[in-house]
Amino acid sequence: MNFYVMTLFPEMVSSGLSASILGRASERDLLSVETINIRDYADNKHNKVDDYPYGGGAGMLMQAQPVVDAHRALTERIGRKPRTVYVTPWGRVFDQKIAEDLAQEEDLIFLCGHYEGIDERALELVATDYLSIGDYVLTGGELPAMVMIDCISRLIPGVLHNDESAQTESFTDDLLEHPQYSRPEVFEGMEVPPVLLSGHHKNIETWRRQQSLLRTLKYRPDLLQKAQGLTKADLAFLKEQGFEP
Ligand code: ADE
Repeated sequence: MNFYVMTLFPEMVSSGLSASILGRASERDLLSVETINIRDYADNKHNKVDDYPYGGGAGMLMQAQPVVDAHRALTERIGRKPRTVYVTPWGRVFDQKIAEDLAQEEDLIFLCGHYEGIDERALELVATDYLSIGDYVLTGGELPAMVMIDCISRLIPGVLHNDESAQTESFTDDLLEHPQYSRPEVFEGMEVPPVLLSGHHKNIETWRRQQSLLRTLKYRPDLLQKAQGLTKADLAFLKEQGFEP
């Protein structure tokens, strides 16, 4: 999978994505991350890429020309027009399902805005998807693009080791992950739940499922309302906790 990030701050993106699991995956050629500096496409000698918005208002806007030229040069080089995600607080809120959909692509372009956004005509010409990472406003699209790239990357076969990939499961069925414990058995007087030491796989599985349900009920009850895979046993357990769907 090839990610292309169009940005005014390429170092921020390349340094943020070169460490840890994604760095290892790039070295193994499972993915690549290329940054495109939009400023390189400014058509004036001061390399200016922003201007005042027509109609007035606060702040500056990224101009259409450098964005469209950068995108055109990139898609000509790739040889086709991949999906191009404009990262913006007014986009659809990114989630695990959208990540799974985007992970099917061979190439993906992310367009990061700055200042008060980008001239609408550039978006009309280049963007295919509009995505946000949540209902709050950041200073630019780089961190949101990095969040999405990280999340999509771990879905690419081979990027995670098998023991790591189990962690996705709890999100895909709309439940939060159960608590986890490692050695020692007693830490500062706090014991590991005895069932986890019992070796009784069926009981461990039931305990983990119930802990997932409890955690979701406590922190994200909204997820339970739309959870698809709840069994009769799950519903009975939740009812005991006072939850009625
Ligand atoms: N740019 C600024 N804030 C953002 C957000 N919450 N999501 C995506 N892009 C953004």
